Order: sequence, then C-alpha cells, then structure tokens
Amino acid sequence: MPHPLPHWFLLGAGNMGTLAAWYLTRAGHRVSVLRDTTEPVLHKTLRLPDEAPNVALTLPVMRPDALTAPVRHLLVAVKTPYSQSALKPLQRWLTDETLVLRLQNGLGALDGLLPEHGMLLEAVSTSAVKGQHPVHEIVAENTTWLGGSPFPPAWFDALTHHWPDLRWREDMREPQWQKLVVNAVINPLTALHDVPNGAICTDPALRAQAEVLTREADQVLQSLNPHWPGHSLDNVLAVATATAGNTSSMRADRQRGAPTEIDAINGWLVKQADMLGLAVPENRKLVQAMQSTLA
Ligand code: PAF
Repeated sequence: MPHPLPHWFLLGAGNMGTLAAWYLTRAGHRVSVLRDTTEPVLHKTLRLPDEAPNVALTLPVMRPDALTAPVRHLLVAVKTPYSQSALKPLQRWLTDETLVLRLQNGLGALDGLLPEHGMLLEAVSTSAVKGQHPVHEIVAENTTWLGGSPFPPAWFDALTHHWPDLRWREDMREPQWQKLVVNAVINPLTALHDVPNGAICTDPALRAQAEVLTREADQVLQSLNPHWPGHSLDNVLAVATATAGNTSSMRADRQRGAPTEIDAINGWLVKQADMLGLAVPENRKLVQAMQSTLA
C-alpha cells in the first residue's frame, strides 16, 4: 500500500513559506495555513522567472483554535522573531509523532519550543523570492537542502520531481552554516546602511567590515567543528554579487519597522562564541546596533 501523502500545516505564508507550499501542492501534498483569521482561504500569485505565466495558488486557512486533532506535519516558515507566538497556540496539538520541517533563516529559533522527543527536519533554501502577500516574485530557483536525520521520509523521492534541485542530507550543518555566514554579513550590513546587497562588494568600508565579520564567524564555526573549511568570504561575496540589486530580508524588515532576525543569525554566533570563550566584537556590535534601531 503506498503511503498517504502528508497534510502540512503551514506557519508563515510569506515568501519562502509560499514557495514551499507551491512545490508541496504540485507534488500532491495538502497544505493548510494556520493563521488566526476569519478568511477561509489565502489567494496567492506567484510570479515566475523567465516571463513564465503567473501561478495562482489558493491555500485553505485554519485557525489554530479550530484544530481538533494532533498535527502530523508542520512546516514552520515564520520569521524567527515570531516563532514563539506562532507555536504557542499549537502546543497541545504537537506530539512526539509530529514531523516539524523548519524553513527559517538563522539557527536555534525553535529551541525549547517543540516536543522533546519530536521529529525535526531542517530545510535550507538558496532560492530567492521577493514581494509581500499576496504577490510573491520568484527571482531564482536554486538548491534546497532538506534533512537532519539518516533517512528521508517515504514521500521525499517523489517530491524531488516537483521541488527544483531538492537534495537530502543527513547532516545539515554545512549548508546551514554556509547560509548563516552569508546572512550574518549581508543582512545586518545592508540593513544598517540601507543599501542593496551589492554594496558589500563595491563599498570598501563595507567590504572591510564583511571580512572581519566573516573571520569571526569562521573562527566560531571552526571551534564547533574542526572540519569546518573556513574561508567563507568568497561565498559571501559571491552571493552579494549574484544578488547585487536585491534588498536583503533584514533591510526589508528594518524599512518596514518590523522585528528582524538578528538574534537567530549574529545573535546565535555571539551566543556560541560566549560559550566557547571566543571574542566576536564585530558581530556583537551589529547585534546591539540592530537591537537599538528597534528600541
Ligand atoms: O536573507 C536574505 O535576504 C537572503 O538570504 C540573502 C542571501 C542575503 C540575499 O538577499
């Protein structure tokens, strides 16, 4: 008997959550948005690269207080500062049987918020999506790594036919850390200076700051795992060049006056450094600077 396809409950129907919902529905999975609203459905428009016709996506909505049974598949794609408030109303419906898929920037945002013996899979996407509900523009569809356990779920192989360049990894640390360093440099610098990503390469002062931030991050990651290759600056500059005209997600949040993901990105690095007894003054300065801009 084939396994039934999952019914996902989605927290966070922003850019990345909507992209994932589209790929999952294409593969025949059901996706319902969990949101405290009276709207019965969310109508989304996805703009595709290369002038392909727009996609209309309709996602059913369910209020968390309307749940009547444990959630078996939960996709967490809320921005990290909203993790706690989004998960709180679900607590009684999350069990050790719930499979949680975390699709967020940064690290550690769900620590202590999920059932102790539950199943957590991590996703790292290098795709680029911009815009705001209800219109999401897919700028580039790149690799997504999914994993965090030795074997993929039964539905994984079939999903790779609908989710471009989706790859399984038992150990997610390498793609997570690579993305973390990119976000720890590009996001706060572009947010604080209100510049597009490319300025990291073209502005000599920002380039110099990027070098110091990357060195600190590599030092922390190398202390956590001596096999970490380091030399992350090349990757940071390559992403800044490839996305030169883009507004980083943290710059966009700051422009809107919304909470940013600084705690889960540079804040995570500072926390690790403190536990390891390492000094990361430049990362610490950025955390404080970002926090004070919202105070
Ligand atoms: O958070 C973001 O904006 C993106 O992850 C990245 C790679 C920095 C590009 O803008």
